[in-house]
Amino acid sequence: EKGNYRHFMQKEIFEQPTVVAQTLGSYLRQADNSVALPQIDFDLSAINRITIVACGTSYYAGMVAKYWFEQFARVPVDIDVASEFRYREPVLEDGGLSLFISQSGETADTLAALRHCKEAGQTIGVVVNVPTSSMAREADLLLPTHAGPEIGVASTKAFTCQLAVLAALAAHMAVKKGRMSREEEQEVVRHLLEAPACLNSALDHDDDIASMAHLIAPARDVLYLGRGPDYPLALEGALKLKEISYIHAEGYASGEMKHGPIALIDEDVPVIVLAPSGPLFEKTVSNMQEVRARGGKVVLISDEEGLEEAGEDCIATIQMPKVHPLIAPLVYAVPVQLLAYHVACVKGTDVDQPRNLAKSVTVE
Ligand code: F6R
Repeated sequence: EKGNYRHFMQKEIFEQPTVVAQTLGSYLRQADNSVALPQIDFDLSAINRITIVACGTSYYAGMVAKYWFEQFARVPVDIDVASEFRYREPVLEDGGLSLFISQSGETADTLAALRHCKEAGQTIGVVVNVPTSSMAREADLLLPTHAGPEIGVASTKAFTCQLAVLAALAAHMAVKKGRMSREEEQEVVRHLLEAPACLNSALDHDDDIASMAHLIAPARDVLYLGRGPDYPLALEGALKLKEISYIHAEGYASGEMKHGPIALIDEDVPVIVLAPSGPLFEKTVSNMQEVRARGGKVVLISDEEGLEEAGEDCIATIQMPKVHPLIAPLVYAVPVQLLAYHVACVKGTDVDQPRNLAKSVTVE
């Protein structure tokens, strides 16, 4: 039931503080601020490589997780979209963990990749939202997201819950490998537990986002820029906008702009910049200036500090709470989801059932 919401997608966006808290609750122990994964019957500390395979939004969650596995556990990570994975003849060495991320647990390409990895002797981990799904049944390590049923075709709450699970897994692996001290683990857990409240503060800006949607709705093309773990969020923002508003959108790593896409910039192409203040901020801002110098119209999504420093001359800004970099990808998911949602509402498209799309893609 939609309750007071106009669409399932909107309801699911607003459920995120609750369901992310639920998911974190099952992977973190608040009593001593530690990560507590389900019983694992293989040696996580012996894993020497991770191969992540997924599609669409779940793939972007995997892209964020790559930063975490490498940063925390110092384990090399390969990542592919499932439809490309098998056909490039991937080298799967002994001691590898193959990790499949899927809301439905039924996506045909991802499931086929899972079976391929299983046959190749990889340990199989899955992050799925449907615990009775095919992927869940075939896993050595099942890590459910507790997002509850997702009805809107565009994935929202499943994504942030996937991120929550993946952050916990990366920290746990780092601890097992002796790469993360007890104090660092507690620190990571504390930051993760701040996520639900920060998601709530992000949702407080719903009205601001609704009132700027008319600036984006007439555009034919929109670019999204981000750096580091916020780069996958730029990709996710572009995907959300494409699928429900039918506006052509692309996400780019901010630094790639000058290698081509900047040629597209004119006053008709809005550029959405995701830039939490922090170590990567200055670099992103200088990419943003390159856009502005060419007449580009920028929407900056940042925190108070970032907006104060670089918010001038933007056609609009969206203020996020100041958050630890670890949880920024979860929190910044909210404004990109809401922006796509409100633009689609302005355009009057069928938000929950966008044309040509199915909730679960069970054919290759
Ligand atoms: C985007 C979206 C799709 C799915 C993709 C994978 O909003 O919903 O891109 O993320 O089809 O689906 P799952 O996660 O069920 O494997």
